[in-house]
Amino acid sequence: MADPYRLPTTVVPSTYALVLEPDLEAATFAGEVSIQVEVVEATSEVVLNALDLQLDTAEVDGRPAEVTLDAEHGRATLRLAEPVGPGPAEVHLRFRGTLNDKLRGFYRSTFKDSTGTEHTIATTQFESTDARRAFPCWDEPALKATFAVTLVVPDDLLAVSNAAVVSETTLGDGRRRVVFEPTMKMSTYLVAFIVGPLAATDAVDVDGVPLRVIAPPERIALAPFALEAGAFALRAYSDFFGIPYPGGKLDLVAIPDFAFGAMENLGCVTFRETALLADEPLASRAELQRVADVVNHEIAHMWFGDLVTMKWWNGIWLNEAFATFMELKATDAFRPEWDRWTSFGVERAAAFAVDSLAATRPIEFPVVSPAEAEGMFDVLTYQKGCAVMRMLEQYVGEDGFRDGLRLYMAAHAYGNTETSDLWDAIEQATGQPVRATMDSWILQGGFPLVTATLSADGVAVTLDQESFRFLPDRVVEEHVPLWSVPVVLRTSTGDVQRVLLDQRSRTVPLDTKADWVVVNAGASGFYRVRYAPALLAALLGDLAAAKLTPLERHALASDTHAAMLAGMAPVADLLEVIRALAGDDDPDVWTSLASCLAFLVRVAHGTEAEDLATALVREVARPALGRVGWDPVEGEGARTATLRGVLVALLGGPGQDPEVRARAKALFECWLADRASVPPDLVDPVLHTTGRLSDPADYDRILQRFRSAATPQEEVSTLVALSSVEDPALFARTVELYLSSEVRTQNAPQALAVALRSVVGGALAWESVTQHWAEINERYPSNSISRLLSGLAAQASPALAADARAFLIDHPIPQGAKQVAQTLETMDVNARFLTEVGSTLPDALR
Ligand code: BES
Ligand code: ZN
Repeated sequence: MADPYRLPTTVVPSTYALVLEPDLEAATFAGEVSIQVEVVEATSEVVLNALDLQLDTAEVDGRPAEVTLDAEHGRATLRLAEPVGPGPAEVHLRFRGTLNDKLRGFYRSTFKDSTGTEHTIATTQFESTDARRAFPCWDEPALKATFAVTLVVPDDLLAVSNAAVVSETTLGDGRRRVVFEPTMKMSTYLVAFIVGPLAATDAVDVDGVPLRVIAPPERIALAPFALEAGAFALRAYSDFFGIPYPGGKLDLVAIPDFAFGAMENLGCVTFRETALLADEPLASRAELQRVADVVNHEIAHMWFGDLVTMKWWNGIWLNEAFATFMELKATDAFRPEWDRWTSFGVERAAAFAVDSLAATRPIEFPVVSPAEAEGMFDVLTYQKGCAVMRMLEQYVGEDGFRDGLRLYMAAHAYGNTETSDLWDAIEQATGQPVRATMDSWILQGGFPLVTATLSADGVAVTLDQESFRFLPDRVVEEHVPLWSVPVVLRTSTGDVQRVLLDQRSRTVPLDTKADWVVVNAGASGFYRVRYAPALLAALLGDLAAAKLTPLERHALASDTHAAMLAGMAPVADLLEVIRALAGDDDPDVWTSLASCLAFLVRVAHGTEAEDLATALVREVARPALGRVGWDPVEGEGARTATLRGVLVALLGGPGQDPEVRARAKALFECWLADRASVPPDLVDPVLHTTGRLSDPADYDRILQRFRSAATPQEEVSTLVALSSVEDPALFARTVELYLSSEVRTQNAPQALAVALRSVVGGALAWESVTQHWAEINERYPSNSISRLLSGLAAQASPALAADARAFLIDHPIPQGAKQVAQTLETMDVNARFLTEVGSTLPDALR
């Protein structure tokens, strides 16, 4: 049977001429579209996509057609009295719709200026399948066409779309007609148009491409950092892909209400404000890095995604994983001192965690309905997808990988591809078995645990692989998974060896006899390592000589933490690694250690182990903070500033360090008096530490700052800091605020996720979420509900886990079913640790 979500292929579009007139006050729009199509087979039925639109007239080659709408599948059928074609034809439609408040399709966003006046923007978000909510179209990624957009808008508003303006004509009645150039041949999900009282920077000329930032006028001063990052990325990518930027101009547009982080509309990229606008001198390194990352990510899509596009939505993971990979490469080149690949290696922990569950999924899977496509946007797509790409690149070599990409881009420009086309191109460039290797990573869920044993005489290492899981599989898999693991070994003599472990077990002879060996050298492999006890002892005993890179040190801690959670290693092993690494001065290693320590404090909460766990934090982190000091030293660099922030947050939070808390409180006072008086990387730690102290007067002052925030980042930081309070009455106020109309629907889900994570308030937050469930699902963007719930994954209480499971069985969310299952299983993993290992904690920590 034909798939009801797919359009028949009898009629295919080639060009759209689209005229739209939004009425911002009435929140409606009217439109007209002429579509040049090729009728492949004579037919009296033309089927295309349309959703929540009223179609007023429909004609094919000037002949009227009768329209029927199918809302479930988002389709419209135009029936003709006589068949049309084969051959070219023109479909003409007039339609009307509503500018919705759900941040999808053609929607309304609002903002207030400093005088309190509210302004309205009409803007679009089409990926994956919402172009059909703005105009009738063949809304599938493989049905590429050109789009000539015309907007009829009030005289005083800015109008932008994918391409440059060709002409602007005043209509003499307060309106003007803005005609844009036709776009290149591209998919419908990349079309965009925005109308509103927005300001644009002057264009920066980037080798002939005009680059601008567009934002609410009072925030346009926050544009320079994004312009600098964007110009850098445009140049870097033209060079890397060997193809010039495919759009004529590039606008980066900040939209006050935005469901995602950003969207890669060709030539007209849209962003939430925190991902584009930044006050460079006062922004933390994390905030600037976020802007650079997101700008780099979306600009990478101009080539990978926009110029070359997946055939169908099952390929969306590759689109996103690859853009993430390029994003990191570009950020790494833009600010080498940020060491972006190392921080990514640490962030990858989130993907490892989900991929250690029975409820994980293969990176790529068949997609039929739009809801299934929505389920693909998660850490497995972005982080695991990017991580396996990085693993491949590091294994085959950066040059061969890039050459493969150039082949791929050149062969498929303006076209559509399957995932295997990319592997084949890299295989062609490198001569390595890329397709077979990558299939083992993307077509099955999970990842391997590689156990390494060094022979007694030190001349060979045996590698065994098995699937890594936190909980024993409930269902026994009939097919035992096997991966092609690209293993990089480094021995005590400094030799580096590469082997493809594609069997369950393999003994690798070493070039020279070794005392120890680092498996997953460079730590870009997406697998975990268990060193046999003798080998681990040899490695830890010689840690200084081993000269582990920061990412390798992180991997040691992270692999041990995971083994502990899976019941394969005692708590003592993790403590040994933490103490062995406590002399570290790398911010990424400390981020990793902080997460291990925070976990221990969290599971010890309310038990006799709590004081021991917090004391451990102080024991290891105080000397580290002593080494960096509180006050920035002239010329110390971004890494030291970041490390200071990580340590203050760790000691002020999980460490419950009274001195750090007092000092943070003093800095909070300074910050209120003068933002510039506190080092940017300390602002968040100071806000969170002050929040925890739960002084009602300070609470109100943070709230006040939320209401009068100077930057988009400050608005979110202060909002989220209100979740740190430990006083139940204040915590209840926080949750009430999050659910109120005072918080934008784009921010509330993230804020509620943070509240759900609270050790002291999580249960209360959960209670409120369940009470407001209908409202939450009605108001917040559809993609955000499962993200909101993911905050629960930090909880370890068996009772809360059971309660959440029961509730979510009764209240399923189809677009996020997989993520919900993962959240629930993670709660079970934590609860099991608490019940089985909790009682041994005091002894281990003593
Ligand atoms: N194409 C996505 C945005 C998107 C995601 C649209 C899901 C529709 C459904 C965009 O390129 C993206 O990946 N945005 C990220 C930010 C990025 C830097 C990781 C996002 O929105 O979180
Ligand atoms: Zn993306």
